[in-house]
Amino acid sequence: MDNSVAKNYNVGIVKQRSMFMGKKKNDRNELCWCGSGRKYKKCHRDFDERIDSIKFNYYKGQVRPPQNIINNEKDIDGIRKSGVVNNATLDLMGEMIKPGIDTASLDKAAYEFILSHGGYPASLNYEGFPKSVCISVNDVVCHGIPSPDTILKEGDIVNVDITTILDGYYADASRMYVVGGKTTPEAQRLVDVTKECMNLGIAAAKPWGWLGDISAACGNHAHANGYSVVTALGGHGVGKDYHLEPFVAHVGEKGTGMLLVPGMTLTVEPMINQGKPEVDIDEKDNWTVRTADHKLSAQWEKTILITETGVEIMSS
Ligand code: MF3
Ligand code: CO
Ligand code: CO
Repeated sequence: MDNSVAKNYNVGIVKQRSMFMGKKKNDRNELCWCGSGRKYKKCHRDFDERIDSIKFNYYKGQVRPPQNIINNEKDIDGIRKSGVVNNATLDLMGEMIKPGIDTASLDKAAYEFILSHGGYPASLNYEGFPKSVCISVNDVVCHGIPSPDTILKEGDIVNVDITTILDGYYADASRMYVVGGKTTPEAQRLVDVTKECMNLGIAAAKPWGWLGDISAACGNHAHANGYSVVTALGGHGVGKDYHLEPFVAHVGEKGTGMLLVPGMTLTVEPMINQGKPEVDIDEKDNWTVRTADHKLSAQWEKTILITETGVEIMSS
């Protein structure tokens, strides 16, 4: 995951990045930097002026979003369409998940479904990941590798995480499924509260707000329910590529981090643990992330767009 922003707690570095990184000077009559084909003065000039008028508090890690993560109308339409295929693939997973099914069969069905709709599964061979989707069962936090040997049984809690590339645009989402529809009250509560964390995070996202508003809403709800939040991994910008800035932490403080502006697409994907927040990576496959204490973990993920007035869900 791209956590370059999260690592930049050094104030000097953050300041330098936000002033010079990814910002192209544009003349009024030139074509806008966003690639819309419109003149700058009719496109992102007011937007840039509004950002220029903001006094970023570098001590709160407040930074200007880089231009490469701002989507134009065509990009947004592309991501939205990719999201439709991605959602339908997650629906298919929901129909197939039953006691006795192995996770490699789910992966194969997802692969075939995405291809038959003109897309491609972004996770396949991504950084060497060997399968099309991630399937993470019980104490697996994320990046579970589908396998014919992983056979789902009644009461398992399972995350399927799917990213579709359609026409070059990425949409990333995951859902929890309870195998057989029934599990323990403890596991069910973890699944439900984790979904609430994601939804509260998304509800806190608004244009001209701050990334930390999302993080705080997610994390506070998890902690209020006695759970811990995984901080080793997080959400990310997504759309024109798989993992873009910013790194989206699921704990944090309101009013901190990157400015949220219309045209940004990012994921909110809290990983919430029943026990301790620490995780281990499987030494043999180098992918599977498990809770260090082997207690349960849950995750839900949506891709969201920051609009002029609020948020649009692009994949869920
Ligand atoms: N879809 C995951 C995310 O939410 C990333 C999976 S990368 C993989 O960002 F290689 F494990 F597939
Ligand atoms: Co994902
Ligand atoms: Co993601």
